[in-house]
Amino acid sequence: MVGIFENSEVLVTGGAGFIGSHIVDRLMELGAWVKVLDDMSSGSLMNVNRWGENQNFELIKGDIRNPEIVRNAVKGTSIVFHQAAKVSVPFSIENPILVADVNAMGTVILLDECRRADVEKIVVASSSSVYGETPILPKVESMTTNPISPYGVSKLTAERMAIAFTKIYNLKATALRYFNVFGPRQRGGSYAGAISIFIKNGFSNQPFPIFGDGTQTRDFTFVDDVVECNILAATSDRTNGEVYNVARGEQITINRVAAIIKNLTGSSSKFQHLPKREGDIEHSLADISKAQRDFGYEPMVDIESGLKKTIEWSLDSL
Ligand SMILES: NC(=O)c1ccc[n+]([C@@H]2O[C@H](COP(=O)([O-])OP(=O)(O)OC[C@H]3O[C@@H](n4cnc5c(N)ncnc54)[C@H](O)[C@@H]3O)[C@@H](O)[C@H]2O)c1
Repeated sequence: MVGIFENSEVLVTGGAGFIGSHIVDRLMELGAWVKVLDDMSSGSLMNVNRWGENQNFELIKGDIRNPEIVRNAVKGTSIVFHQAAKVSVPFSIENPILVADVNAMGTVILLDECRRADVEKIVVASSSSVYGETPILPKVESMTTNPISPYGVSKLTAERMAIAFTKIYNLKATALRYFNVFGPRQRGGSYAGAISIFIKNGFSNQPFPIFGDGTQTRDFTFVDDVVECNILAATSDRTNGEVYNVARGEQITINRVAAIIKNLTGSSSKFQHLPKREGDIEHSLADISKAQRDFGYEPMVDIESGLKKTIEWSLDSL
């Protein structure tokens, strides 16, 4: 696998963000020439600082909705990992037009420039939110999608466009439906995910906000597993025109996650139950057998080990 990336020009959109910057790290380790295209709206220079002086690394500050910028970024590129997006469900409820524009139209612009530039392969980040309120668990890729938030609809549009580009233009595209990713560099702020908020509040002994009764479940996936899945999917031709779940394949309640974090941070925080949030789904669990079968994806990091690593990173970056 090292051989495939060594001296290849690879573009990571959203590469200054949480997941994208971990993909960048892995690609740099594999000897790739890595370009990042990021408008820095939620990404951070700190995430990619370690590569700043490396001649194999280039950071292009720009918007994926600008065809000219994208055209220059994809020039000479063989593989693209598309992570750039507006990421939060609540943000999408407040800003549906912006989220549709960046996540859906931005992806179409990128796909179009990729096919014009003869990019060999593009792996597009999709989301478990495309399943929406379908009651059946685990989620299987062949199930009907029924997204219930503007974010979910925008990600479904992005992945369907990617698959259509494979069929119509022969651009080799793969969409990966990430299930609740967590790990170092996940951002805090008002739209942060539960784990980032619990860790931050755990350190300061503030209450853990839990929407609903906390019995809702998620399939939390450590970021290193998501990175490996991207790398494997990019290097397999079986994945062309296909969609895959990327998860650990285990269900855990929010209450249990809160309890583990409270314990690991040695916190005296209380759990504060708040009304359920609009657009949030009740339960989430992935069937990951398609990725296992097609390209040997195997999640390596269990939730407790992943939380320990995330908490260690949070302590270091305090
Ligand atoms: N974190 C999760 O649990 C999760 C779950 C499902 C899917 N995803 C998907 O994974 C991808 C990465 O998410 P993340 O958690 O790392 O979020 P993130 O916000 O850390 O990363 C997104 C990056 O995209 C950049 N960006 C946003 N709009 C842009 C634009 N118009 N042009 C260029 N760059 C732009 C941001 O600056 C940021 O660096 C996204 O596509 C997201 O939808 C994430």
